[in-house]
Amino acid sequence: MRPEAIQIIKDEHFAIAAVMYCLRHLVRQMRDHGEAPNFPLLHAILDYIVSYPDRWHHPKENDYLFAAIRERSDIANALIERLEQDHRDGHPRIEDLKTRLNAFERAGEAAPFYAAAEAYAQTEWDHMRREEDELMPLAERVLTAEDWQRIHDAFRENDNPLYGIKPKEDAERLYQRILALAPAPIGYASGKGR
Ligand SMILES: [Fe+2]
Ligand SMILES: [Fe+2]
Repeated sequence: MRPEAIQIIKDEHFAIAAVMYCLRHLVRQMRDHGEAPNFPLLHAILDYIVSYPDRWHHPKENDYLFAAIRERSDIANALIERLEQDHRDGHPRIEDLKTRLNAFERAGEAAPFYAAAEAYAQTEWDHMRREEDELMPLAERVLTAEDWQRIHDAFRENDNPLYGIKPKEDAERLYQRILALAPAPIGYASGKGR
């Protein structure tokens, strides 16, 4: 049977990918169709990236999934190094995106934000594809049931209210805000959002 941890990680990727799609859609509507910028929505998207993938999802992968694979085998070392580098790059890249969004909002400098936002979304997609298509098959070959259980528990801990941290709840709140603010083809039908 497939480890449940894989499905949890894929579900997290699905939510992150949906937000990336929303970001790219907005950029294209503004740049190619002259749509007015929706700054509250753009800020909500960047807040989501900081509060979920950057702060929780990537570190859990480093500390549990990647570490467990390394313990069992060096089969994926080069790939893991590449993925860890993506994680390290993630923080400065989102900070850069925030700076560019502020310049867009305050000084109308749209083009640098558009370019960085599209590149960010593409890089994040490529990263998640690499994890799912290249790393997971290797992980399934080398990890034991106990390894998967530890990874599962670590990802589930993201929901654990005992520690007073509920990152998934925070992420869900931001996610709902994004859906509520997004235009109808992506978010709720207009007027029905919160
Ligand atoms: Fe990752
Ligand atoms: Fe990931």
